[in-house]
Parts: sequence; structure tokens; C-alpha cells
Amino acid sequence: MFSLDKDDKYSPISKIFHWGRFVLIVLIIITTNFNMEIHFLLGTIMLVFITLNIIWRLFNKFPKTYATSTLEANIETLVHVAMYALLFFIPIFGMLANTDVNDVEFAKVLSEFLQVNILGFKNLMAFFHVIMVNFLMFLVVVHVVMIIFNKIFRKTGELKRMI
Ligand code: HEM
Ligand code: HEM
Repeated sequence: MFSLDKDDKYSPISKIFHWGRFVLIVLIIITTNFNMEIHFLLGTIMLVFITLNIIWRLFNKFPKTYATSTLEANIETLVHVAMYALLFFIPIFGMLANTDVNDVEFAKVLSEFLQVNILGFKNLMAFFHVIMVNFLMFLVVVHVVMIIFNKIFRKTGELKRMI
């Protein structure tokens, strides 16, 4: 399969997506402490960004893995895919938590299906939003620990090809 990402170097576009995602997440989380309007705006930008990123990733295969077993390679893929999925669904649930059920047909149908009132719906969506953020943070920690472990103990070129 054609790919601009090579085994020894990610393409500039993949690097922009990776580090752009990182900066956006940091800003999105910081803004929860002082300005929710900016949080909503940056979170919505993240949804557009990650959608473009997923399309890009579908047409550019991952470079070769440095995993030393099939199990490790599968876990690595699972972590990457789960991070993409969470970054897609977290903003959607954030938007639903911030929606007036009566204004959005999809939210109305969903709240009727779940048999909850306006406040119950908002609270439920906010609950899922926050649970998913916590799970994402857990995966990011696993991801970064693995990258540092590989750099120090296995001396692989993983970090170098992403910088
Ligand atoms: C990847 C994107 C996003 C991340 C990482 C994120 C992360 C967070 C975090 C860390 C909190 C604070 C939780 C707490 O204080 O316990 C939060 C709360 C919230 N976020 Fe987001 N958010 C994102 C996108 C969005 C979007 C797009 C919206 C809506 C347009 C949104 C709406 C909300 C709302 C309404 C809350 C308050 C939830 C509550 O009542 O506890 N978020 N988000
Ligand atoms: C918000 C935090 C982060 C997220 C969501 C994230 C997500 C990802 C994902 C999905 C990939 C797969 C390649 C791609 O499609 O872009 C990846 C690769 C990579 N990430 Fe992160 N990352 C985060 C933070 C970091 C940090 C802080 C570092 C620095 C230690 C880092 C270093 C790397 C490296 C070196 C790779 C390439 C791994 C390889 O090719 O085998 N990431 N990251």
C-alpha cells in the first residue's frame, strides 16, 4: 500500500496531526478550569481535526512496528485505534452534554430511547464524556511510558521518527 509515512520517518503531515492533537488536548483540558466557551470551541476543532486525521491514517499505513512479539504489536495497534476512537467520540458526547434536547432531533430521539428528561440526558452525556476522557488519559500514559521505555532500554528509533 502507498504511504507517505516511511519506516524511518513519519511524513510532516502525520507529525502535524500527532503534535497538533497533543497541543489541542492540553489546551482543551486546561480551559475546563477557566473558560468553558473556549473548551467547547477547541473541542469542536478537535472533532474536525481528528476526522481529517482518521481519513489521512486510513490511506497511510503505519510504519513497521518495533514490538518484539505479536501480542505486543496487537496491544500497540489496539491502543492507537482506541485513542483515535476516543478522540472522535469524546467531543460528540461533550456536544450532547451541552445540547438542549428540544433543539436537536437526534438528542431528542436518544433521550426518549434512554427514557431520561433534559437534565438527566445532559448529566448522562457529561458522565460518558468524562469517563472517556479518563480512559484516554490512561491510554496516553501507557503510550508515553512505552515510548520512553523503548527509547531508554531498547534503543529503538520510534521517538526519532515522530520528531
Ligand atoms: C477531545 C475533546 C475534549 C476533551 C479532551 C474534553 C475534556 C473535558 C474535561 C477534562 C472536562 C472536565 C471534567 C471535570 O471537570 O470533571 C470536560 C468537561 C466538559 N466538556 Fe469537554 N472535552 C472535549 C470536548 C468537548 C466538546 C466538543 C464539548 C461541547 C461542545 C465539551 C463539553 C463539555 C462539558 C459540557 C463539560 C462539563 C461536564 C460536566 O458537567 O461535568 N467537551 N471536558
Ligand atoms: C495527547 C497525547 C497523545 C496521543 C493522543 C498520542 C497518540 C498517538 C497515536 C495515535 C500514534 C500512532 C501514530 C499516528 O497515527 O499518529 C502515536 C505515535 C507516537 N507517539 Fe503519541 N500520542 C500522544 C502523546 C505523545 C507524547 C507526549 C509522546 C512523546 C513521548 C508521543 C510519542 C509518540 C511516538 C514516538 C509515536 C510513534 C510510535 C511508532 O511509530 O511506533 N506521543 N501517538
